[in-house]
Amino acid sequence: MDLNGKVAVITGAGSGLGRAAAQVLAGYGAKVVLGDITGAEHATAAAIGKSALARHCDVRDEVQVAALVAAAVETFGRLDAMLNVAGVSFFGLLGDLDMADYERILDIDLRGVVHGTKHAIRVMSGAGGGVILNWASVAALGAKPATSVYSAAKAGIIAVTRAAAVEYAKAGVRANAIVPGMFMTEAAANAPADMITQLLASIPVGRGGEPRECAELAAFLISDRAKFINGAVLVIDGGQSAQLA
Ligand SMILES: NC(=O)c1ccc[n+]([C@@H]2O[C@H](COP(=O)([O-])OP(=O)(O)OC[C@H]3O[C@@H](n4cnc5c(N)ncnc54)[C@H](O)[C@@H]3O)[C@@H](O)[C@H]2O)c1
Repeated sequence: MDLNGKVAVITGAGSGLGRAAAQVLAGYGAKVVLGDITGAEHATAAAIGKSALARHCDVRDEVQVAALVAAAVETFGRLDAMLNVAGVSFFGLLGDLDMADYERILDIDLRGVVHGTKHAIRVMSGAGGGVILNWASVAALGAKPATSVYSAAKAGIIAVTRAAAVEYAKAGVRANAIVPGMFMTEAAANAPADMITQLLASIPVGRGGEPRECAELAAFLISDRAKFINGAVLVIDGGQSAQLA
């Protein structure tokens, strides 16, 4: 994989799948601009070295997302890929739903991705194109008890990604949704233990995903080898969503 000369912005890069994407993309030669809210984005960047830059970025704040995108252009001269990875999970039954949780999850998981998609499009469409990758979830494809609001946000991400793919293909922008199943990250550690045990047992390949495996998919989609992949919903789940319950 050769990503030399490419510049990528990654939200949620302090942990899990975002951090793995930063490491893998940089390993293939990309320059990476990393956002998160915990400060861990600086540790990710420091471990990569001078081809990485970290900035505090709360994806709920459109101004901060626009600034993260601008930092890529200011520092590295261009923007080739926008990886909207930041997200939080949520578990709770619909009948018990506190609407404050609804607002919080939709704000981070869906509005945050819309901010990143919008500002990447603005830069890319005026500069010959680029690639947008939005992290959805298998929870967008079917129901499990207690994931309704998260599922709704993630289904919204797929819809927004398809819209971007259709609206901006002529401008050279490709947009695709990455749909992870179970990956063993910090987010997975927050899920109820019985849910994790049950999920892991149900995965046809017999294990959860390694964050690097998701990052490798992202690297391929960003590369020039994937130029005909646009508006796709790419499931990476070990077969979890392929089987009947
Ligand atoms: N791990 C899985 O099994 C799994 C499965 C399906 C989908 N996903 C999705 O993949 C993405 C990454 O998940 P992960 O497992 O790496 O989670 P994670 O918790 O390890 O990492 C998510 C990162 O997003 C950051 N974040 C949270 N709120 C933010 C905000 N408002 N602004 C900016 N950053 C914020 C967190 O600080 C964290 O560093 C998420 O969108 C998640 O929904 C993960």
